[in-house]
Amino acid sequence: MASHSKSHSESVRSNVIQFDKCLEFLEKAGKEYISPKFQIWKEDHLIIFKLLVYFYQDKPNAEKHGIDLHKGILLTGPVGCGKTSLMTLLRFMLAPKKQYIIKSARDITLEFIQDGYSTINKYSKAAFQQTGGELIPKAYCFDDLGVESNIKYYGNETNVMAEILLSRYDMFISRHMLTHATTNLSASEIENCYGNRVRSRMREMINVIAFDKEAKDKRV
Ligand SMILES: Nc1ncnc2c1ncn2[C@@H]1O[C@H](COP(=O)(O)OP(=O)(O)OP(=O)(O)O)[C@@H](O)[C@H]1O
Ligand SMILES: [Mg+2]
Repeated sequence: MASHSKSHSESVRSNVIQFDKCLEFLEKAGKEYISPKFQIWKEDHLIIFKLLVYFYQDKPNAEKHGIDLHKGILLTGPVGCGKTSLMTLLRFMLAPKKQYIIKSARDITLEFIQDGYSTINKYSKAAFQQTGGELIPKAYCFDDLGVESNIKYYGNETNVMAEILLSRYDMFISRHMLTHATTNLSASEIENCYGNRVRSRMREMINVIAFDKEAKDKRV
């Protein structure tokens, strides 16, 4: 038991992040904004640590955990393990310039059905904000990627999220536009859903941080 907790504290050691303080903050914010029952689970420590390493740009730990600090984050895991909650809470910890907008893939698809192709530009080529005379690319976190393909109003004509991801990839290359996302899908399911062109580009612009397949549903 002692050796287990030692190896655990070693794997979350950082010169940049005060991990205990961050966990305290997240738990407090979680109780306030997510649910009064919100608690940080011990089995989630490593995932949370990796996310903090990424967002606080802890270079040595990023290297150790295979995280590329120039890419975005894809948080994967089974239904209800807490992906959306974590991405919502981490946002509170970031400087305004680093903050991302969380938008559900399903809502974007519904927006497309209402507004048409302008929606694709809105979330890709036109996703810039004016900050002090500078045009800064807007980072988005697309929540629940992959569920929206079940909405069949437009059949296979246009896969809205695939188009947005392809466009954002071009903007990632030319303007370093960052994309984050959450999903229940595995890499091969993403390929089935969006095709291999999207998957290959996602791989180039997004790090995968994965909950264990067995991670429990926190909804129960
Ligand atoms: N650490 C936690 N402690 C207690 N409850 C939590 C915790 N994290 C999430 N929850 C609760 O569990 C439920 C599921 O969380 P969340 O929506 O973040 O999961 P998810 O992984 O995004 O699920 P889905 O795959 O369905 O989108 C929510 O009702 C949330 O309030
Ligand atoms: Mg979710």
